[in-house]
Amino acid sequence: MMGSQLHRSPLLLLFFVVVLFLHRSHAQPNITGYTCTANQTHSPCQTYAFYRASLSQNYTDLASIGDLFGVSRLMIADPSNISSSALSATLAADQPLFVPLTCSCNPHNGTNISYANITYTIRAGDTFLRLSTGPFENLTSYQSVELVNPDLVATNLTIGVDAVFPIFCKCPNETQSTGGVNFLVSYVLQPSDNLSSVASRFGIQEQSIVSNNTKSTETLFLPFSKLPSLTQPIVSANTSAPSAREERTGLIVGLAIGVGVLGVFLILGIALWLHRERSNKKRVPGPGPANLEGDGEKRMARGEKGPREMEVNLMADVSGCLDKYRVFGIDELKEATDGFSSRCLIQGSVYKGFLDGEVFAIKKMKWNAYEELKILQKVNHGNLVRLEGFCIDPEDANCYLIYEFLPNGSLHSWLHDAGGHQGRLSWKTRLRIAFDVANGLQYIHEHTRPRVVHKDIKSSNILLDSNMRAKIANFGLAKSGCNAITMHIVGTQGYIAPEYLSDGVVSTRMDVFSFGVVLLELVSGREAMDEEGRVMWAAAVEAFGGRSSEEIGKAERLRGWMDEALVADSSCSVESVASVVSVAISCLNRDPAKRPSMVDIVYALCKSDDVFDFSEDGFSAEAQVSAR
Ligand SMILES: *[C@@H]1O[C@H](CO)[C@@H](O)[C@H](O)[C@H]1NC(C)=O
Ligand SMILES: *[C@@H]1O[C@H](CO)[C@@H](O)[C@H](O)[C@H]1NC(C)=O
Ligand SMILES: *[C@@H]1O[C@H](CO)[C@@H](O)[C@H](O)[C@H]1NC(C)=O
Ligand SMILES: *[C@@H]1O[C@H](CO)[C@@H](O)[C@H](O)[C@H]1NC(C)=O
Ligand SMILES: *[C@@H]1O[C@H](CO)[C@@H](O)[C@H](O)[C@H]1NC(C)=O
Ligand SMILES: *[C@@H]1O[C@H](CO)[C@@H](O)[C@H](O)[C@H]1NC(C)=O
Ligand SMILES: *[C@@H]1O[C@H](CO)[C@@H](O)[C@H](O)[C@H]1NC(C)=O
Ligand SMILES: *[C@@H]1O[C@H](CO)[C@@H](O)[C@H](O)[C@H]1NC(C)=O
Ligand SMILES: *[C@@H]1O[C@H](CO)[C@@H](O)[C@H](O)[C@H]1NC(C)=O
Ligand SMILES: *[C@@H]1O[C@H](CO)[C@@H](O)[C@H](O)[C@H]1NC(C)=O
Ligand SMILES: *[C@@H]1O[C@H](CO)[C@@H](O)[C@H](O)[C@H]1NC(C)=O
Ligand SMILES: *[C@@H]1O[C@H](CO)[C@@H](O)[C@H](O)[C@H]1NC(C)=O
Repeated sequence: MMGSQLHRSPLLLLFFVVVLFLHRSHAQPNITGYTCTANQTHSPCQTYAFYRASLSQNYTDLASIGDLFGVSRLMIADPSNISSSALSATLAADQPLFVPLTCSCNPHNGTNISYANITYTIRAGDTFLRLSTGPFENLTSYQSVELVNPDLVATNLTIGVDAVFPIFCKCPNETQSTGGVNFLVSYVLQPSDNLSSVASRFGIQEQSIVSNNTKSTETLFLPFSKLPSLTQPIVSANTSAPSAREERTGLIVGLAIGVGVLGVFLILGIALWLHRERSNKKRVPGPGPANLEGDGEKRMARGEKGPREMEVNLMADVSGCLDKYRVFGIDELKEATDGFSSRCLIQGSVYKGFLDGEVFAIKKMKWNAYEELKILQKVNHGNLVRLEGFCIDPEDANCYLIYEFLPNGSLHSWLHDAGGHQGRLSWKTRLRIAFDVANGLQYIHEHTRPRVVHKDIKSSNILLDSNMRAKIANFGLAKSGCNAITMHIVGTQGYIAPEYLSDGVVSTRMDVFSFGVVLLELVSGREAMDEEGRVMWAAAVEAFGGRSSEEIGKAERLRGWMDEALVADSSCSVESVASVVSVAISCLNRDPAKRPSMVDIVYALCKSDDVFDFSEDGFSAEAQVSAR
């Protein structure tokens, strides 16, 4: 009865809500989250949370807030009306920011809850309550964190473990988006707030706040058709920082200078490169600088990118990456590699170099580095080779990517280099390598938005660290975004999925196919393609797939096909080899839709751990998770 009365009388509702707000504000929200219907047209959506720089929590610069939410400084500065020259300034207390979120609808125990996943690595002294009320400023509740992390014990968190913090958010529903609401910004009410003060601060009607929020909780979802512009306090560039933070500020200022210098180089380099590009190809599509942004998007869809679009992309992409990586000078790199001498060459255009006493792998590239940079800035996983920094050389328009150095080289050399390590990998090590690669691929396929497809999975792109743990390298051909069609076929014979070769279909399932070939390599020790150009996978499918998969004589056929070193390995059971081969065969299905996903594969490899006995040397799925 009360409900219908409220419906009829917006004023009464308003009053009711205001009273509730005044009553309830300044309390940690006592809810597990906001429900959603998975039906919603715009879910997942890009939205924002209103965040206040917090002196008490030490979140007083864009870098640390960006780290907390897993975004770059620029991604916060842009929507928050902070100029790029102030990226490294210390923020004022309570300085308002819009932090970007990817909001999605997630099923939980029968209801669907709307939130943005933020991964946080637990540190000493952290509890869900402290983190949600402190750093996350009540944008989530500890109840919700508990719900989303059923495996973690709230009162006994292990340092270094990753927890998902579900930041409350909402995507506009059908009615709202037809009514012109494009963003629902998450806003946590403060003790000093009331509905009218919030409404006037953001230039919206009290009534539209009320009608767009079903529950009167501490988190409001403010409806906007266009993100409002925040008024930022004037921060003088040389604010004296508290002494405790001086060191960090110094570092950041140093980086900012580096970035500035780099910007100049970048422009020089681009000018030079553009010039060359134009004199090389005589056809010049000459759009004036005025319509630079205008039709860029449309022309990119045609596949080949014009130099202009490349320039715009490069600028945007590289500037987005700058905050996370070290910027090296070309002189440093020359010194590190003896002037790129052949003694330091690892393979191709990759050099080994010592920088500040540490070893790095330095890859020399032309300007096409931007695709790889763009992808690497989004990924961070223990089974992917880590990018440490980059360098741009304006002289010859080269770009250098600096990676962690992996001392044990490529899986290809361990499997196939005659006289080298050939045949020296035990079955257990091979299984662990397979598992590591599967984990890395699962991460890029499932946990990046948009999804990343590597496109060139092969044993020479799998590198081994000092503990023989595998990492995926070389994202030079990788693509973000899925189910695209490309006319420009790249990749390596023997590993390429048939649908990609024939139709140029790009999907995560093409990596699954290539992974299947790598599994076969691990089992057989044979190359993916022999000297006569015959591909190994076709022979394997013939021997172990389809009708010939009958059990009779299968063990014999397997033994005949296995790497000789494995036949001699007493820890290697035929059952375990057979189960890996069956995973491989399912990856090699001609129909991409029938191939398993990497999630299925990781599960299949895990599930067999009674067969594989991973328990020795602490290898388990848990170890994988915490190794991140
Ligand atoms: C979050 O709510 C708690 C009360 O539940 C309050 O003590 C704390 O100050 C709030 N945090 C922020 C950042 O407003
Ligand atoms: C939170 O809400 C539940 C029921 O909705 C209630 O039982 C519980 O006492 C509340 N907790 C607090 C701290 O208000
Ligand atoms: C889901 O969307 C369809 C069409 O858009 C609509 O007919 C249906 O009622 C919706 N279901 C729910 C539960 O909102
Ligand atoms: C903030 O930093 C100061 C000095 O570094 C430290 O004493 C304090 O405990 C920090 N506060 C939090 C909430 O981490
Ligand atoms: C999940 O649902 C089951 C029954 O549907 C219920 O018993 C259980 O308490 C629920 N768990 C949570 C955390 O809500
Ligand atoms: C939750 O979402 C699933 C689809 O992901 C849908 O089938 C289910 O009906 C939804 N449940 C509710 C209560 O909306
Ligand atoms: C967010 O995290 C939950 C729980 O870990 C998971 O079920 C869900 O798939 C994740 N969503 C996205 C979009 O990553
Ligand atoms: C906390 O967890 C660790 C292992 O994760 C366990 O050894 C310890 O007994 C637990 N402590 C409590 C009080 O539950
Ligand atoms: C939501 O907000 C928009 C814009 O402020 C307004 O037009 C609309 O009436 C509000 N209510 C609903 C239910 O969409
Ligand atoms: C809301 O707060 C402002 C100051 O922040 C005050 O002037 C105004 O009277 C308050 N309105 C109500 C309804 O409490
Ligand atoms: C959309 O959300 C608004 C506010 O929460 C609600 O009043 C409206 O009924 C919702 N519309 C649909 C179709 O769910
Ligand atoms: C951006 O912030 C400045 C103050 O730093 C303010 O003067 C300006 O009006 C803001 N821009 C807009 C579009 O509101």
